[in-house]
Amino acid sequence: MNPNDLVAEATSDFAAAATPAQLEDAKAVYLGKAGKVTAMMKGMATLSADEKRVFGAAVNQAKAGIESALTARRDALAEAQLQAQLRAESLDVSLPGRSHAVGGLHPVSRVIERVEAIFGSMGFDVAEGPEIETDWMSFTALNNPENHPARSMQDTFYVDVKDAQGRWLNLRPHTSPMQVRYARAHAARYAREIAAGLTMPEIRVIAPGRTYRVDSDATHSPMFHQCEGLWIGENVSFKDLKVIFTDFIAAFFETSDFDVRFRPSFFPFTEPSAEIDIRFHQGALAGRWLEVAGSGQVHPNVVRNYGLDPERHIGFAFGIGADRFAMLRYGIDDLRLMFEGDLRFLTQFQ
Ligand code: DAH
Repeated sequence: MNPNDLVAEATSDFAAAATPAQLEDAKAVYLGKAGKVTAMMKGMATLSADEKRVFGAAVNQAKAGIESALTARRDALAEAQLQAQLRAESLDVSLPGRSHAVGGLHPVSRVIERVEAIFGSMGFDVAEGPEIETDWMSFTALNNPENHPARSMQDTFYVDVKDAQGRWLNLRPHTSPMQVRYARAHAARYAREIAAGLTMPEIRVIAPGRTYRVDSDATHSPMFHQCEGLWIGENVSFKDLKVIFTDFIAAFFETSDFDVRFRPSFFPFTEPSAEIDIRFHQGALAGRWLEVAGSGQVHPNVVRNYGLDPERHIGFAFGIGADRFAMLRYGIDDLRLMFEGDLRFLTQFQ
């Protein structure tokens, strides 16, 4: 065979190799120990010296030609592989970056933080308690009579589990149980200090949290938020409630341009009891009385359930609707917006 033909044959075989492995196989066919070039070399043994020189030179030239065809094909395959890899891992640097949205506080959380900060500045502690309550904590300890409507299935969510007294647990319909929980949690210390002849420290606490009632419309949600407030001392009266609450409203709404009205009402756990209404003189809400809290002087039976002596320890309590405060502060007219989780609504408060 003509050594030149071998170059053409090898070049076309190399071109047919689609992968580096196939190319190495094709290479062995020509340049391997048992390959065609080696066979040609061996074939020269029978030639004369002159023929050997001519044919040998031709074989060497062919071998060089095959080697350079091989190198060219190796380079081409490596380049193709690199291009394919670049395509697969391609990165369009002109695409907009993926943004990491920063979350924010819910308007109700903002209100609760604000309430805590304002009352905190007046020396109030902050306490949180369970949302699943015993019947005693939600009702009995708060002086609710056995047949009080708040205990009815129409008003209160019950949990299908009974407490130690054999009563259904409830989803607390208000944060008022926290008055009792907080006072009792500290009762041992109060008792020690009283026994040591010291004056019992005042109870001053704010208890924010979720509350539940069987109720749902534009101004009522089955889950809503309250902040309970309690101040008990040796000489804390309704007068102090008026001062504290009015200061709180002024701080919360950042104005002193409003009226406060304590409208006589009824709660089993306070006597006397009042609804607190406020009326702004300016702004979108001006001129209307807005109910913002229930309040009163704590009933002696409740003070007794704190573990304290109602002859010595008196004070006031109040419960504010945190959602209502958020609606007033931010001008929201439908309570349901607050709990639908719609980002178009929520991002407005960031
Ligand atoms: N717990 C009452 C409610 O949910 C609100 C309330 C009224 C709380 C009077 C109080 C209070 O602490 O003294 O409607």
